[in-house]
Amino acid sequence: MYIKRKLKLTYVTILITSFLLIILLSNLFMAFIEDNSKYSASAKFGKGNFAFFIGLVTENNKILQKVSSEVLKNPDNFLDHKYLLQLEKSSNIKYTGIVTIVNNKIDYSSNIIKGYINEDMLYSFNSNDTDQVRNKIIILWKQDFVTSTKDKGSIYYIIDLENYKKLFKENVIIVAVLILIILTATNGIITYFVSKSIVKPIKELDKGAGEILKGNLDYKLDIDSSDEIGEVADTFEEMRLRLKESLEIQKHYEENRKELIASISHDLKTPITSIKGYIEGIKDGVADTPDKMEKYVNTILTKANYMDSLINDLFLYSKLDLNKEPFKFQKVDMNVYIRDCVEEINFDLDQNKVNLKFNVPDTPTLLNIDVQKVKRAIMNIVENSIKYKTDERLIIEIILRRYSSNVILEIKDNGRGIPKEALPYIFERFYRADTSRETTIGGSGLGLAIAKKIMDEHNGEISVDSEANVGTSIFLSFKE
Ligand SMILES: Nc1ncnc2c1ncn2[C@@H]1O[C@H](COP(=O)(O)OP(=O)(O)O)[C@@H](O)[C@H]1O
Ligand SMILES: [Mg+2]
Repeated sequence: MYIKRKLKLTYVTILITSFLLIILLSNLFMAFIEDNSKYSASAKFGKGNFAFFIGLVTENNKILQKVSSEVLKNPDNFLDHKYLLQLEKSSNIKYTGIVTIVNNKIDYSSNIIKGYINEDMLYSFNSNDTDQVRNKIIILWKQDFVTSTKDKGSIYYIIDLENYKKLFKENVIIVAVLILIILTATNGIITYFVSKSIVKPIKELDKGAGEILKGNLDYKLDIDSSDEIGEVADTFEEMRLRLKESLEIQKHYEENRKELIASISHDLKTPITSIKGYIEGIKDGVADTPDKMEKYVNTILTKANYMDSLINDLFLYSKLDLNKEPFKFQKVDMNVYIRDCVEEINFDLDQNKVNLKFNVPDTPTLLNIDVQKVKRAIMNIVENSIKYKTDERLIIEIILRRYSSNVILEIKDNGRGIPKEALPYIFERFYRADTSRETTIGGSGLGLAIAKKIMDEHNGEISVDSEANVGTSIFLSFKE
């Protein structure tokens, strides 16, 4: 429920409760405090606001019925004071009494009203009147009768107002206390529920904010409400998750950067150290023959080239990682394209005496690719085949095939293969399967990571199948 509605409901409930209690209290006061003669007793008593008034009415009716039946059966009973005393006692209500007038004189009068009753008060009360206030009494009703001896009489049922007033004064304190208790309780209960549904979640929200301030982004808000605070809590929760996510990404980037710096410095240190060594050798005159000098200079060039390619790899990888490398897609026939690619690296392959095999479909295989990037991926893979070959003659097979809606390019070698436990990691940057062996073989561990990034950008996939000492297949899967 919305807070606005909750508050409205609270307001209305308190208003209604107060209103009802005020009506009740004022009714009771009116009956007793105000000028008695002006108000009819029934108007005040008969509405049943109070249990004993209801009781009074029922009791009153019981006696009235009894008297009515007695008038028909045996009116002489009304002359019998013992009978009247009994009749009076049969009423369970306090401060009520009976008065009889026979032949214009008070014949019987209950003790409680004896003191302040006189005939005049009674005479002015007509049979069809009900509930009339007379000074200190209320006459509820009157019933006329004629005895067997033809005596005319009337019987009155009367309330002693003085005593009722006293009773009320005692009761009014109880009522006031009761009203106070009811109001306090209603208010208390409502306040409790409203505060529970408003204050509690706000406190929780405050706690959540405090936790974030402390840097704890794992604290989940415990708020389950559908009001405005619930909406705020939802937004807050989303904010927390986003913040957490962005901090995690930031942390990830930070770690990447550190790792990158560590790897770069490590990988660049080795060739620089040897370049320095060779240059010092030349400086110190160790390369004293033209042959030696050429060897030294060539080594320096090789190392420098290696550093250059390493830096290129790093540069490309970080650009791909940050999505800063633009891709230019164009439609090509893969059959022709692969041959062109491999022709370009043919020079390398020739040097290594590679047996190169092609297996492509007869029909053109059209794909939308970035030709430069895919060439880079293919080159990285072929380079690996060359780097990780065995003593046997290297055979590289390039197979292009369609598989459902994919075009799969397989580059297969008969090299040393990759250990099973290393397979899941070879596409991760800086990962090199056998670091101890591979220190002699240069590499950044970025070749396949770059190929994977390139494939990702093509919505394609890269995968591997390899067996140690048998060979490796790398698959590039493109969507047609
Ligand atoms: N054709 C292959 N034969 C054997 N091992 C391979 C082959 N291709 C990749 N690997 C393994 O996967 C690792 C990761 O390859 P790559 O990302 O190109 O890094 P790098 O070649 O710089 O080491 C290599 O270090 C190597 O251990
Ligand atoms: Mg490589």
